[in-house]
Amino acid sequence: MSNLKDILINKTICKSVWFMRQAGRYLPEFRKIRLQNKDFIKICLNSKLSSEITLQPIKRFDLDSAIIFSDILMVPYALGQNIEFLKDDGPQLSEFSLNTFINNDEKKFSRKLEPVYKAIEITRNELDKKKSLISFVGAPWTLLIYMLKLKKSKTEIDINKLNNSHSTINKILNDLNRYIMVHINNQIKAGADVVQIFDSWAGLAPNENLNSYIFKPNAKIIDFCKKGEIPAISYPKGIKEKYEDFNKIVKPDGINIDPEIDPLWAKEKLKNVVIQGGIDPKILLKSEEDIIETATKYIQTFKEIPYVLNLGHGLLPETDPVKVSKLISFYRNSYG
Ligand code: CP3
Repeated sequence: MSNLKDILINKTICKSVWFMRQAGRYLPEFRKIRLQNKDFIKICLNSKLSSEITLQPIKRFDLDSAIIFSDILMVPYALGQNIEFLKDDGPQLSEFSLNTFINNDEKKFSRKLEPVYKAIEITRNELDKKKSLISFVGAPWTLLIYMLKLKKSKTEIDINKLNNSHSTINKILNDLNRYIMVHINNQIKAGADVVQIFDSWAGLAPNENLNSYIFKPNAKIIDFCKKGEIPAISYPKGIKEKYEDFNKIVKPDGINIDPEIDPLWAKEKLKNVVIQGGIDPKILLKSEEDIIETATKYIQTFKEIPYVLNLGHGLLPETDPVKVSKLISFYRNSYG
């Protein structure tokens, strides 16, 4: 079985592969479009173009699932923050205004994201019926980090900013949860089969706040998905051994592990869930032998449980597409 939606529902042993950031800068066909379109948000709001980009890696590699070309920051954008993607400097959001944030409503929010839903509709019509179309959202904590510019460096957040405004933070997280659920629902109504919830900065949440900033908001989203029979994959990157608690508390259908998680540990500790990913994207910058050695470790470890081949985080821009192709064929030709 290779259809991701069915795998998540039935928790079957399978052979299925897709990659986070499979549409992106490592592909010459994406770079060509990117050169002609300087404004990243405008690409995400151009339904035809984002659909075309979504399908680029499917055409090239015949992957089992497509992930809609969009961004987790489309939610803050729809809630009134301007976003610029500066070269080498990551996304820059305009100053957060609590007043603007509070004055949003769900209709206005959905209207601003209409082009994303249209892109899903176009893509679902063009995509082979056997393949799943994945939609996605950022989890509240990860969105909050960008919205309030909480990050001091890659590994550190501004704790003072957080501690000074505990009640406001909780109010924003709660409201974000509501809009995230609206965005999930709209994407599924437009034709998406599955949703992945990216909590890419979960590892930066202070330990004493893990429950209120990570477990609870993610559990609310997963409960919402369960009620709507929406297959969902969680990705709480960087929380180390807390992956076990996360899985027990949040109970997603699928869980994407990051490169710090030992596959054997994951196999023993993460139960009643489809495990996905884990492979360090940096391995794809190495030799073919290194790639095969690492892939073998993951494929062998998970051969008797439901596992979807993917990475521990997104494909790096400097990746050679030929190496991606080699990894896919090795996986498809492997036993287990
Ligand atoms: O192929 C796919 O995976 C679908 C598209 C997708 C993008 N972003 C397109 C994109 C997805 C799923 C995302 C998720 C996303 N966006 C996350 C969570 C996953 C992760 O990487 O941890 C986060 C944190 C973001 C926010 C974001 N968007 C950042 C930090 C950046 C700049 C740095 C970077 O990695 O490029 C982006 C820009 C972005 N989003 C690009 C793409 C293809 C690069 C845009 C460009 O061409 O400059």
